[in-house]
Amino acid sequence: MAAFSVITGAYGYTGKYIARRLLAKGETVVTLTGNPARPNEFGNRVQARPLRFDDSKELESSLHGARVLYNTYWVRFDYGNRTFARAVENTRVLIDAAERAEVRRIVHISITNPSLDSSLPYFRGKALLEEAIKRSGLEYAILRPAVIFGPEDILINNVAFFLRTFPLFAIPGGGEYELQPIFVDDLARLAVDAANAKDSFVADAVGPERFRFNDLVATVASSVGSRAKIVHMPPMVVLAALRVAGFFLGDVILTRDEVSGLLANLLVSADPPSGATRLADWLRENAGAVGARYSSEVQRHYK
Ligand SMILES: NC(=O)c1ccc[n+]([C@@H]2O[C@H](COP(=O)([O-])OP(=O)(O)OC[C@H]3O[C@@H](n4cnc5c(N)ncnc54)[C@H](OP(=O)(O)O)[C@@H]3O)[C@@H](O)[C@H]2O)c1
Repeated sequence: MAAFSVITGAYGYTGKYIARRLLAKGETVVTLTGNPARPNEFGNRVQARPLRFDDSKELESSLHGARVLYNTYWVRFDYGNRTFARAVENTRVLIDAAERAEVRRIVHISITNPSLDSSLPYFRGKALLEEAIKRSGLEYAILRPAVIFGPEDILINNVAFFLRTFPLFAIPGGGEYELQPIFVDDLARLAVDAANAKDSFVADAVGPERFRFNDLVATVASSVGSRAKIVHMPPMVVLAALRVAGFFLGDVILTRDEVSGLLANLLVSADPPSGATRLADWLRENAGAVGARYSSEVQRHYK
């Protein structure tokens, strides 16, 4: 096989948009996936190989000959034996395999404001992996999005779903904390550009708007024509209500750590935006579809 690119998760969310862009450029694309049978749009244009972390030799041989590894693999929360700690270990196995296979470059999707000192396993785990990548012999580009939006999005879609479905929408705390969403295809463009950059680098990847959470909810509400009354409640009360809703929906809607990350203003960047698409415009154009149905993380990754 001629030089090719490998994506972990080309049948997933961000990975799908990266795959589309690579295929449009005429590149050969391989995906490493734990779910080769997942419905996808690519057919035989993307070859699926196993993402099995207990077989590092197989991973190495799957990566052998690859020019770039785009890594989107991660978990959103601890659930069963799929924990952050395990995801960190798994990703280390992947990085080592890429190094042994002499992959030229890794484009790794991280998160804004990762920190080794963070008490939040998501942000600490991402920081540990950034360190592991920097220590590896691989050339790297680390992109740090805050929140990603697009048709397959979960967070903003479900804000819209709750605004459409219930007469009351409760914002955790004062809602003054901010976030800077990036459009999924803008992130994919940055990832593909990053694969062709010369040097190794780390960069935030955020869109042009910076929303206070209050304003984000108001923008989504007006886009979908919601008449829900928007109120503020203590984070623990909102989380308890979401746990009950999650029981009926069969999902983990929002975790305590995710709320803590929001409240700590970790989903913003001090750098200039690198995404061009405005969420407000995108919401206007997609108002009929956003939040029309609930998007379940558990359904997507555990069923
Ligand atoms: N979505 C956001 O708003 C957001 C915000 C900031 C940063 N990020 C980061 O951006 C990257 C891509 O995010 P995404 O939302 O596009 O991810 P995604 O497509 O939902 O997941 C990426 C891949 O990770 C694997 N995966 C996800 N959850 C898993 C689980 N519970 N157990 C086993 N494998 C799992 C899946 O691989 P398989 O092919 O094996 O199923 C999936 O294709 C991630 O590293 C994430 O941390 C995302």
